[in-house]
Amino acid sequence: MATSDFWKISESTGNSSVVGGDMQWSMVVEKLISQNSHNEIGRDVRPFYLGPVHPIREMHENSYEEQMRRRTIQLIENQELNYRDMERLVEATHLLRCSKTPLLLMDKATILHKYKELESHFPEYKICYAVKANDHVEILRILAEAGSCFEVASKPELLKLLDVGVEARRIITSHPIKSPHFIQLCRELHVEYLCIDSKDEIDKIKRIYPSAKTYLRLEIENPESSWPLSDKFGLLLEEVEEILNYAASQNVNVCGLTFHTGSQNNSSESFRRALTISREVFEMGKAQGFDMTLLNIGGGFPVDYFEACRELSDFQKTISEEVEKFPNPERLILQMEPGRRIVAEAGLMMTTVIGTAQRRGKNWLYLDVGLFNGLMESIGGIKYSYKTNANGELKNWIIAGPSCDSMDIVDRNVLLATPKIGDKVFILSAGAYTTVYAANFNGYLAPEITVI
Ligand SMILES: Cc1ncc(COP(=O)(O)O)c(C=O)c1O
Repeated sequence: MATSDFWKISESTGNSSVVGGDMQWSMVVEKLISQNSHNEIGRDVRPFYLGPVHPIREMHENSYEEQMRRRTIQLIENQELNYRDMERLVEATHLLRCSKTPLLLMDKATILHKYKELESHFPEYKICYAVKANDHVEILRILAEAGSCFEVASKPELLKLLDVGVEARRIITSHPIKSPHFIQLCRELHVEYLCIDSKDEIDKIKRIYPSAKTYLRLEIENPESSWPLSDKFGLLLEEVEEILNYAASQNVNVCGLTFHTGSQNNSSESFRRALTISREVFEMGKAQGFDMTLLNIGGGFPVDYFEACRELSDFQKTISEEVEKFPNPERLILQMEPGRRIVAEAGLMMTTVIGTAQRRGKNWLYLDVGLFNGLMESIGGIKYSYKTNANGELKNWIIAGPSCDSMDIVDRNVLLATPKIGDKVFILSAGAYTTVYAANFNGYLAPEITVI
């Protein structure tokens, strides 16, 4: 604690406050919003840096700094204040006033917490963060330092990781349809495992990287997921034998399999079904003479959006029950590829209200972020949660993006206080599949990212 940095928020009115507690990011936001609506945005809310805290003897006993230091330590010891939250809060308060929107704030502490939570539930698994969820270089650096491995689908994703200093042995690619160029790069860098689900892909690998270890992508129904990933890729059980035969005939080594139960998958039962099919595929591989040991269970783990998601422990229980049923489970090389679970809840999208309108009895609220510049997933099954610093009458809104395209509608039936132009709307759990999907359509820019 002696080296921690401490902050106090002071207003031009002379009032000052220290806010905190052991808060989740969403609670920090609530606090921030209530604080700002109370202060009215635009008044001078100044974060005042108090630290680093010096050893006691360097400070005068009754100095203001010393009193604050003692008070802060007391608050922390009574668990009323967590200095990390306070730092984030102060930083966010500052950003709220002075930054352009749209802006995606990514919280480092939450990213690390989510990574460690997966690690503690699945200690035998290599966690390969799916870079596609959010490829911001600072996020990759944070995860690389925490020991994560990575899953990529393209040359630019791969090169970004190398720039951050991640070794190729920590990188896999579960994309079943890769460009010849990308396969060549994987060979040059010694990326060990490559995914397959077609004869064409086997041919490419035989031609470009014949010593690669390959693994099959299975097709699994995704009925319980909000963002299904079935259909485009993967082998049905009845198609596996032919592909295994073909790989054997081409001397391509098949060492395991992967599947994806669908993103934002809220049911552990789909993992049970996937692992039941996987055991059959392992048997088929053995019959073909392959020593299949790689079991990659994909991503799909859910997060809290508008509704709270199922506990990670539910998934852990079902998955480990099913994995135990494999013959020789101790020989398995276990991998997973979570994306959304690690970054979604760490992200807070700050947006500004650019217009409102009443049309045929409906209330429309237009933000500076929409489908095309960050909220693409709202056309599928993802329903975000919104907060605002507005304090007008509570109403039901249709939320729309800024572009002049009628498709650009983000959500309907959202209960929010009536805003003024320039008020802020915060979108929670916006850290995954937002900025990575964003284009600058119609001249509306994708959100910038700030990692705090
Ligand atoms: C091959 C593969 N692995 C992992 C992921 C990450 O999935 P999620 O973000 O649901 O964890 C995806 C998502 O599209 C994927 O296609």
